[in-house]
Amino acid sequence: QGPLEELARAGALPAGETWRVLDLGAGLGTTTLGLAELAQRAGVKKLEVTAVEQDAASLDVFATLAREAHAVGLVPEVKLEARREDLEDLDLARLPKADLVVLGLALNELYRDREDADRLDAREATLRALLGRLRPGGSLVVVEPATRELSRELQTLRDRLVERVFAPCLRDGPCPLLTRERDWCHAQLPFDLPEGLAERAESAGLRRQRLTYAYLTLRTDGRRLWDVFDGSPRAHRVVGGPVRSKGKTEWDLCSAEGLVRIRRLDRERSDASAVLDTAERGTLLTLDRDVEDGRDLRIRPDVGVDGS
Ligand SMILES: C[S@@+](CC[C@H](N)C(=O)[O-])C[C@H]1O[C@@H](n2cnc3c(N)ncnc32)[C@H](O)[C@@H]1O
Repeated sequence: QGPLEELARAGALPAGETWRVLDLGAGLGTTTLGLAELAQRAGVKKLEVTAVEQDAASLDVFATLAREAHAVGLVPEVKLEARREDLEDLDLARLPKADLVVLGLALNELYRDREDADRLDAREATLRALLGRLRPGGSLVVVEPATRELSRELQTLRDRLVERVFAPCLRDGPCPLLTRERDWCHAQLPFDLPEGLAERAESAGLRRQRLTYAYLTLRTDGRRLWDVFDGSPRAHRVVGGPVRSKGKTEWDLCSAEGLVRIRRLDRERSDASAVLDTAERGTLLTLDRDVEDGRDLRIRPDVGVDGS
């Protein structure tokens, strides 16, 4: 839902009470059902979904979950066209056009048997073909697991498709997180597991309150999340941290200028930077001053940081 909330923030969700959705590698329908919940809140009455998936049993579960979620009022009515097909063999140009085309944790499962360069080209071609399936004002949302390898691959695809990028970037230059091998761009969402499960996750040493993912939202109409900030170089996204140590906290930020590190001493916390108390990977921030690429900025009490 994070990427869709950014579309909502920019007023770039599909218009109308019926949304057409194309869900590729749909599995049990988790991606569509996640967006359906947001659609419900946005007043959408019906989703017309074409789901392409190679596993027939998953598609059956998808249909059941969609029916049951609608029956208890969680999601709008879902009119599901389930297509059991292999995406690698499919002529994507023949798929129906949609307002939202979603690839949830599925892009990395395509063309796995190919060599690196060839695989990347094939995935890029897939995304370009899917951009051709967007209705006017539509978005293509790709969500991938937040591993270093897969996130960096998505960043590479982002650079190749830069003129189509709506989010996550607040810049149109090359991705600065590709420069050093150890960096990768991903976001996280607070996520509450049901009680019983939360305890088990904790005793197994799993982090329970964060859902991490890498994503790319693409459009063909030139709209960008960055426009919400009037393309300002002072708009930043948190791409690293918070790292807390000896009386201070640090975050890495990405913006039109490149990468900057900000540092706040605990004793210099002020209302002007209160938004940093909860800033984490993916958070959007606006600084009240310019900072150059590669520079550090100490967030003294007079430095204003806006989170809206
Ligand atoms: C990790 S699951 C993600 C499912 C769902 N989108 C989600 O977000 O939970 C990836 C799905 O992609 C499907 N898939 C992988 N390769 C495929 C292909 N070549 N054609 C169709 N489906 C494929 C798998 O069967 C699996 O259901």
